[in-house]
Amino acid sequence: MTEPRKIIIDTDPGQDDAAAILLAFGSRDEIEVLGITTVAGNVPLRLTSRNGRIICELCNRRDVKVFAGADAPIKRKLVTAEHVHGKTGLDGPDLPEPTMELQPGHAVDFIIDTLRGQPEGTVTLCTLGPLTNIALAFQKAPDIVGRVRELVMMGGGFFEGGNITPAAEFNIYVDPEAADIVFRAGVPIVMMPLDVTHKLLTRKDRVARIAALGTPPAKAMVEMLEFFERFDIEKYGSDGGPLHDPTVIAYLLKPELFKGRDCNVEIEVTSELTVGMTVVDWWGVTDRKQNAKVMRDVDADGFFALLTERFARI
Ligand code: RIB
Ligand code: CA
Repeated sequence: MTEPRKIIIDTDPGQDDAAAILLAFGSRDEIEVLGITTVAGNVPLRLTSRNGRIICELCNRRDVKVFAGADAPIKRKLVTAEHVHGKTGLDGPDLPEPTMELQPGHAVDFIIDTLRGQPEGTVTLCTLGPLTNIALAFQKAPDIVGRVRELVMMGGGFFEGGNITPAAEFNIYVDPEAADIVFRAGVPIVMMPLDVTHKLLTRKDRVARIAALGTPPAKAMVEMLEFFERFDIEKYGSDGGPLHDPTVIAYLLKPELFKGRDCNVEIEVTSELTVGMTVVDWWGVTDRKQNAKVMRDVDADGFFALLTERFARI
């Protein structure tokens, strides 16, 4: 039996972030969550830090350390997404306020200390929100970049365009300067863009199989998904909403579910029209360095089967 993969989950919960965290919690043989770091994104930091702890307590994981991180992007004003996630960021189920405390200390210092404290190349950073904490950690401690095993992130879009503007996906749009720092850092990146996540719709039959588990985490997850999907169904006229963030954890568990290629990715940080756009050189028309493995296709049924099977183990 191989050792579980050590990860830090950097997140802005968010119902889809919750699904990713539940997937990690349901995979304890393969994944060891060293800590959860929260960042301002879908909702302000106070709420993402609340929501991260609510999710831990929902899964009886009060042992997991939760650290609060950046409350604003590196240089821009925070843009949030209550229109998608509701005013708490975790609308849907009626869950109790958290009783577990936040860890003392800043998330950025936890990221730095963990990467310095663990053997080189053994910690994976799993980012589900804006990249502010990661960029700040790389700026404060450049020595940690080479110690990261892999950075698997949900963010960006290319063939699919954007979701917060025609050109930009939300996580990148909120803090494009942070994304630019991370994509230029030289860390091994796996990118899960909208091109993948828009193929993962929370169709009724898929949600019904999660509901049939009948456990408190599954019931709460279904109520989160039923709230979360309403915005995208209205916007895209789709059969369910795209389930973005669990792709990051699913990649660690079953990378064969995904197909993509090594590409150069650069971030637009100046044009107000396209700021936050991930410019992916998918066809290799430049000689720019291939700095990310960009995913484009996914086995959607296999993805939801994995989610359901692992949710059952929580
Ligand atoms: O654009 C989708 C991403 O933005 C997801 O991570 C969602 O939770 C929000 O953070
Ligand atoms: Ca998120």
